[in-house]
Amino acid sequence: MIAILGIESSCDDTSASVIVDGVIRSNIIANQSVHERYGGVVPELASRAHQQNIIPVVHDALTQAGLKKEDITAIAFTRGPGLLGSLLVGTSFTKGFSSALNIPMIDINHLQAHVLAHFIKENESDTNQPKFPFLCLLVSGGNSQIILVKSHSEMEIIGQTIDDAAGEAFDKCAKVMGLGYPGGPIVDRLAKDGDADKFVFSKPNIAGYDYSFSGLKTSFLYLLRDHLKNDPNFIETNKEDLCASLQKTIIDVLMNKLYKATKDLKIKEVAVAGGVSANSGLRSAFEDYSKRYGWKIHIPKFAYTTDNAAMVAISGYYKYLDGDFCEMDAVPYARVKI
Ligand code: KG4
Repeated sequence: MIAILGIESSCDDTSASVIVDGVIRSNIIANQSVHERYGGVVPELASRAHQQNIIPVVHDALTQAGLKKEDITAIAFTRGPGLLGSLLVGTSFTKGFSSALNIPMIDINHLQAHVLAHFIKENESDTNQPKFPFLCLLVSGGNSQIILVKSHSEMEIIGQTIDDAAGEAFDKCAKVMGLGYPGGPIVDRLAKDGDADKFVFSKPNIAGYDYSFSGLKTSFLYLLRDHLKNDPNFIETNKEDLCASLQKTIIDVLMNKLYKATKDLKIKEVAVAGGVSANSGLRSAFEDYSKRYGWKIHIPKFAYTTDNAAMVAISGYYKYLDGDFCEMDAVPYARVKI
């Protein structure tokens, strides 16, 4: 039995998960409501909340898994990228746990973990994992990337945003409409009642598989500014249509490049990961492309779209099989590529 305890503390969610032989046993997440009133994550407060949450969260993850800490084979933790103070809490906890139990510790790249979330088995007979090579669209608040996944450990970014990430485009446009934070889920909800063809925003014209969302943000801002001159209630009376049109534009941009990559590389196995993969419009677009172009698609469960330790534990499982461990003097890194 290989039992991996995963620890995730890269931003504002404290999470612990136990995965046994690739099958999920628990995935406990403590959210931090303390940031709501600030309209964004406050790093200092996040570190403190991780300190408060980490022990109870690990305790719950072990209990739900039906295991004692002595049953754990190795501990995997998010080493980066993320907020340094937050990462330090998970890293230090891992060092203590690893040395107390004399078990290996495994460092995990948070972005790779989002991709590897697709390998979490819900039960012994779950065989729905992607086959290599596949393409993964990783879309979050900080990243928009097309990744060529060659194996559990070999990933190549073939396209990425040159400015804002897709999640940022959702959040910033929502902010100028006064919709609250994070804006992505709110835009998603309002878009359901809106006309996606009502407003047209500029789309980037960038070579290759790279993305850009800063022009869209400016175009959105100018449209609001122009209409607000004549109609101070413009946002309130049009918010559903604005959200639907914005969402459609972001999805079109994301899907066009992804489609180009699948065609050029002749790959039909396609996955989506990261916070924005919770978006209902993006999920429908994947299903639509699957029907139209014969893609075999992999859409994560909602629990695996946001930051969670199950994706860290499954990544740790594969690194454990490779004997790829990290040293006790490991330090977290705020920035790192795949
Ligand atoms: O991966 P993630 O949880 O963490 C960071 O990158 O920090 O992604 C968060 C991003 C935010 O920008 C949020 O607005 C976006 O994911 N998001 C969504 C939806 N749910 C979360 N964007 C669009 N539609 C959603 N349903």
